[in-house]
Amino acid sequence: MKFFIDTADTKDIRELAATGLLDGVTTNPTLIAKSGRKMLDVIAEICDIVPGPVSAEAVSTDHATMLAEGRKLAAIAPNVTVKVPLTPDGLKTCKVLTDEGRQVNVTLCFSAGQAILAAKAGATFISPFVGRLDDISQDGMQLIADICQIYKQYPAFKTEVLVASIRHPVHLIAAAKLGAHVATLPGSVIRQLYQHPLTDKGLASFLADWAKTGQSILDDDKAGKSAAAE
Ligand code: E4P
Repeated sequence: MKFFIDTADTKDIRELAATGLLDGVTTNPTLIAKSGRKMLDVIAEICDIVPGPVSAEAVSTDHATMLAEGRKLAAIAPNVTVKVPLTPDGLKTCKVLTDEGRQVNVTLCFSAGQAILAAKAGATFISPFVGRLDDISQDGMQLIADICQIYKQYPAFKTEVLVASIRHPVHLIAAAKLGAHVATLPGSVIRQLYQHPLTDKGLASFLADWAKTGQSILDDDKAGKSAAAE
């Protein structure tokens, strides 16, 4: 399963990219606004940090302007993935851009029918938003199950399921069980994945016992000398 980080905060991206676990980045207009920076600058910087796909979202709603925006965004770096909304104009734009050999992420997907349309339009990624469905008392993860099941029936569909709007580790684990190709996660959720109280407790107890030995792995001469002196 590929891990993307869902943010336009380059400090957070640098920190998590250093773990070696990041495969890509997704941004959206809200995240760009939150960064307080110029979109083209932020996307260029992110593309330098992470070699994998970096989603940059077009903001016009008509096909012609969306296509021009998509081409401009794609020209920033070879790893830009143009993000378009799941609308008739968005899918028309997706088809043209993918026919040109560019990567496209179709966003704001809330139904299996929409996901079928995106696959037929040649989308590289489809982004179903699980958290926002949960927010309105619908089962976001059921949508992931439906899309994964449908896409498996049609090997000609090359679109990857990119689970978006993930709010907590349970979402991520459920998506992984379903075989979703990609999860885009806020940095806070990636950090939560490391945590378990038994890991902390176990480590504290191992370190306390190790301290009693007086040994040092790196400075084993010193440990040897003190043992000989006794
Ligand atoms: C994905 O590409 C979106 O940017 C994101 O996952 C939306 O998440 P939210 O519903 O938490 O805003």
